[in-house]
Amino acid sequence: MRVVHHLAELRAERTRLKDPLGLVPTMGFLHDGHASLVRRARLECASVAVSIFVNPTQFGPQEDLATYPRDLARDLALLEAEGADLVWVPEVDDVYPPGDQTWVSVEQVTRRLEGERRPGHFRGVTTVVAKLLHAFEPQRAYFGQKDAQQAVVIRRMVRDLLWPVEVVVCPTVREPDGLALSSRNSYLSAGERMAAGVLYRSLRAAAEAFASGTYQAEGLRQILRATLAGEPLTRPHYVSVADPETLQELQGEVSRALLSMAVSIGKTTLIDNMLVGGEGS
Ligand code: PAJ
Repeated sequence: MRVVHHLAELRAERTRLKDPLGLVPTMGFLHDGHASLVRRARLECASVAVSIFVNPTQFGPQEDLATYPRDLARDLALLEAEGADLVWVPEVDDVYPPGDQTWVSVEQVTRRLEGERRPGHFRGVTTVVAKLLHAFEPQRAYFGQKDAQQAVVIRRMVRDLLWPVEVVVCPTVREPDGLALSSRNSYLSAGERMAAGVLYRSLRAAAEAFASGTYQAEGLRQILRATLAGEPLTRPHYVSVADPETLQELQGEVSRALLSMAVSIGKTTLIDNMLVGGEGS
């Protein structure tokens, strides 16, 4: 496994990798959710590359950029064990040349949900992912369903910009109580960690209601809200029952939907989601 820092080194190493190349973009502090993407890429591609970069432009001024957890030595050991071929660990200046003035932004699908809660977040995500796709020129890029809106936004960007790369979205990896693995789970105290199981419980409750005939969007949102309300440590920012592609909030009877939420527990905000109907049920 080669680990490189500067763009010129990355480009040189890239020429030595066999196609198809699978790219797994990450912000590090890797866990089994990230590892699942590397494993999937390993199965489907001749070579696997990973980026580790805590991207400053996707953090708001009040967010956790400075305290975002980092452990490069552990990350590299995990990636070596998973059989990654190439890892890029750039500095901020490698990704954002000083004086840069170029952004990539996607419109409608970034406006709601996480986009509304975190203004500018998706512009940072799409800009960095665009740069990563240019730097690596992978044939496939792997993302997690855990960040459902991110996956929708990136698919849209790749499609709209006629990019010859296949976006592969992989299932959410969860703890035994259903909590989705996340680097930010490390912020939770023991009590908060216990409470955090309620996100998955509420998604399950709504998905089970849907499976047994509750098709009204508002009824499903009500189940999400009521289950979250049963856990006093939680502060929901939104609960949503939306169209899985457009992310428009749904009304009336639904046949397919993305259930999603952002919930603060103490100082930590967690997101989670579940697809119901169609293939997602
Ligand atoms: P990060 O939060 O490090 O996540 C990297 C990738 O791992 C994302 O595609 C994310 O959806 C996926 N992932 C995280 N937790 C997961 C889980 N429990 N199960 C399955 N996949 C999971 O997402 C980002 O970084 C950044 O926004 C990035 C795309 C790297 C751009 O900076």
